[in-house]
Parts: sequence; structure tokens; C-alpha cells
Amino acid sequence: MKKMLPIGLAFCFLVAGTAWAKGVPKKREAADVRGQRSWEQHCQSCHGLDMSGSGPAAAAIPGGVPDLRGTLTPENRERQLQVILEGQGYMPAFQESWYNPVRDSKLVLDYLVLVEAGERKPGSPLPTPAVTTEP
Ligand code: HEC
Repeated sequence: MKKMLPIGLAFCFLVAGTAWAKGVPKKREAADVRGQRSWEQHCQSCHGLDMSGSGPAAAAIPGGVPDLRGTLTPENRERQLQVILEGQGYMPAFQESWYNPVRDSKLVLDYLVLVEAGERKPGSPLPTPAVTTEP
């Protein structure tokens, strides 16, 4: 029975902790929301919200912008990650523009995988940005 005391105490702290955390605004938004924000801020101007390659700036790109639909496969992931980080042709590199480029590139790719799976509708309204203390 003695062994139950620490466990009981830990449980109490856990419950108290989550109750307290409820009133505190979340520092970070959900991963898919951050991925969508990045896509809309940095990518859709060329690639289009729907990845079709018909964003407003696409007409100005010699040779156009490739259609990414159907390419978000696990086999392509490493190469696509590299293209986002290092750029390729008229595709700009993002490794110098983001605070944590590998993580942020993965968030965008993860979001695009959800779009491909039909689990997110391109261009669906985003929540008002959460207050964040971290980049
Ligand atoms: C200035 C226009 C422009 C912007 C902004 C842009 N891209 Fe691109 N992207 C391109 C072009 C053009 C290509 C084709 C590059 C080539 O192979 O010559 C490309 C290629 C790619 C590819 C590789 C496709 C493949 O399978 O070979 C991926 C993935 C990609 N872009 C994702 C992104 C993401 C994610 C962002 C935002 C972080 C982004 N792009 C921003 C123009 C752009």
C-alpha cells in the first residue's frame, strides 16, 4: 500500500497541472496549421493553393511551375525536402529564410500530404494566429 502514495501524489499533480494549463494560451499552433500557413505565405504564389502550379506568380516563371499533385509520396520526400532547402532552377532555397528550415520544410510537406489525402481543403480558413513567444 505504501507504494501507492507517490503514484497518487503524482496523479494529483498531473490533474492540477492540466487544470492550470487550460487557462494558458498555447505557445504553438498545431503542426498542420503551421504547415498550411507556410505554404500560403511562401509557396502558393508560385505553386497555387491546390499545388497545381498555377499560383499568381507562375506565369512569370520561365518554363512554368510543376504540378505537385500526385508527387507527395514517401519515395519523393527526401528529394522534395532537398529542393525546398536548397532550391532548384527557379525554385528558391528556403534554408536561409527559416528559423528551423528542416522542421519547417517537413511541416509544409506533411500539410501537403494531408491535402493529397483529401483531409485538408486547399485554402480553407486559418485560425487567427496564436500568440507565440518562439519563432
Ligand atoms: C518563385 C516561385 C516558387 C516558389 C515561391 C516556390 N516554388 Fe517550389 N518550385 C518552383 C519551380 C519553378 C519548381 C521546378 C524547379 C525545377 O525543377 O526546375 C519548383 C519545384 C518544387 C518542388 C519539387 C517538385 C519535384 O517533385 O521535383 C517542390 C517539392 C516544391 N517546389 C515545393 C515548394 C515549397 C514547399 C515551397 C514553399 C516553401 C515552394 N516550392 C516555393 C517554383 C517555386
